[in-house]
Order: sequence, then C-alpha cells, then structure tokens
Amino acid sequence: MENQRVRKAVIPAAGLGTRFLPATKAMPKEMLPIVDIPTLQYIVEEAVASGIEEILIITNSNKRSMEDHFDRNYELEERLKAAGKNDLEEMIRHISDMVNIYYVRQKEPKGLGHAILCTKSFIGEEPFAVLLGDDLVVNEGGEPALKQLVGAYNEKRTSVVGVQRVPMDEVNKYGIVEPQDKNYDPDKRRIKLKGMVEKPSIDQSPGDLAVLGRYVLTPEIFDLLETQAAGKNGEIQLTDAILRLMDIQTVYAYRFEGTRYDVGDKFGFVKATIDFALKRPELKDELSAYIKELASKI
Ligand code: G1P
Repeated sequence: MENQRVRKAVIPAAGLGTRFLPATKAMPKEMLPIVDIPTLQYIVEEAVASGIEEILIITNSNKRSMEDHFDRNYELEERLKAAGKNDLEEMIRHISDMVNIYYVRQKEPKGLGHAILCTKSFIGEEPFAVLLGDDLVVNEGGEPALKQLVGAYNEKRTSVVGVQRVPMDEVNKYGIVEPQDKNYDPDKRRIKLKGMVEKPSIDQSPGDLAVLGRYVLTPEIFDLLETQAAGKNGEIQLTDAILRLMDIQTVYAYRFEGTRYDVGDKFGFVKATIDFALKRPELKDELSAYIKELASKI
C-alpha cells in the first residue's frame, strides 16, 4: 500500500438531475453540454490529465448515452472520414481512446457515501480518487485540481479532500472541514483536519472551507462506509465516513488552485457556458460583442 499510485477514479453519476428537468427526463445531467462538450467529458479529461488510468462511473438505469459517448462510434467515424472531416473524426475517436471506463449501478439512491461503497470491489486495496460531476474546475496554465490532490497524497500517503473557501451564507450547501489549527496559515495549501460536517448551518459551521467535489481516499474508507449510519437528509454521507477515518489516519484538506463552477446549479451552469464560450476562438469575438451590446441595454 505504501508506494501505490493513485490509478483509479470513481465518478458518481446516479443522481436524478431534478434541477435540470425536463432536459434530464431522458438524459443524465452529466451529459448536458457546456458549449458542445458534456460535463462528464470535462471530468474524465481532468482525471486522465491527473494520471488516472481506470474510471468507474456509478450510474442509475439512465446510463446508455454515457456508455455510447465514451465508446467507439464506427459509423459516425466512417461518415466523417468520407466527408473529409478528419479533425472531427479524430476528436470523436479520441474520446473513446482516452481511458478505460467501467460502469456500476447504484441500485438505491441512498446517498454519496453509499454510491462510493458500490465501488469497493473495483477499487480493492488501492488509494483512489473521487470526482463529483457537479463541480468543474478550470486551472489554466496550472495543474488540474485532482492532480494537485494526488501530489498532496503522494507526499503524505493519506486521504486528502479538495477544498476552497466559500461565502459563509453558502456553507449549508457543502461538506465543511474543520482544521486542526484554528489559526491555520491562510497561505498554506495543505491543512491538517480535525473534523468535517455535512451541510452545517452558518452558526454550526466550523469555518468556510468547503469540500468541492475532489477527493483522494485510502481504501479504509470502505469498512467505514459499510457501517455508516444515515446522516444529513437521511442519506449515507461520505463526509461522515471521512470524519470517522480521522480516528485511524491523518486526513488533509488541500486548497486547490483553479476556478470552480457549480454546474449542478442552473446559474452556475449558465456562467460556465458563458466563460467556456468566451475562451473558444471560434466564439469569443462574436460573444464578447454580444455581451457588451446586452450590457449597454441593462
Ligand atoms: C456533495 C457532498 C458535499 C460536497 C459537495 C460538493 O454534496 O456531500 O460534502 O461539499 O458534494 O459539491 P451534494 O452537492 O451532492 O449535495
């Protein structure tokens, strides 16, 4: 276990996507595109860029489009080739060549902790990463968020959760960590933890450092998840099991660098769409001009 690399990642994608109905009636929310790339593909690309070799996606019954997206589509490839659209053909093939992806079903919607428990036999006795599909992180010119956490794991060989500060009036949307040292150095990226609480109220919150969808965990988490009682909202919470993990190992928070978008939220989704489109060479001039024109009328 000592020198094991973080090779495997799990991506929970079994939510109902109720916030995006009706789009998610027949399509998983993870397949909703930001400009023209499904959010799940950004997450898979981050994992691959962070050194991950095998990915397990936890799905519900609605997984067909995900499987197809990451599979070969020979007919489409042939048609693109015949039409001389070689760039597109290459892009489509690359999606299926990136990494090995496996799927497992979460049979009951019993929470994030329960979803992670469904990956136990896939992970075995290795450290592994968790990436949540609602959190997209962009770190232009720097390392992807997960790679930063893997770096912290490689130094300490113990579990690491990715955090960033959030406004106090939003702490009730996240898992909030409690640093061991109350007066932790705000410039430090790695912070030793003493506690963690799922979606606290402002007055109960141990601070403003929120877990934002990136984790590197050691396999001891599975035994804890197996015995984890339901917590917040009657769900088996990963946060509660990580809190118990702190009894047997040091757990760190890592303040990762990068801009994080909450694409599970409608406004966050729209913001990500605009920001990502503004970075596209084929869209940015037209879109900037349009935004300026709109702004002048508001
Ligand atoms: C989950 C986790 C929470 C974490 C959040 C990050 O909550 O339970 O600890 O802070 O993701 O996005 P959810 O947003 O699924 O309710």
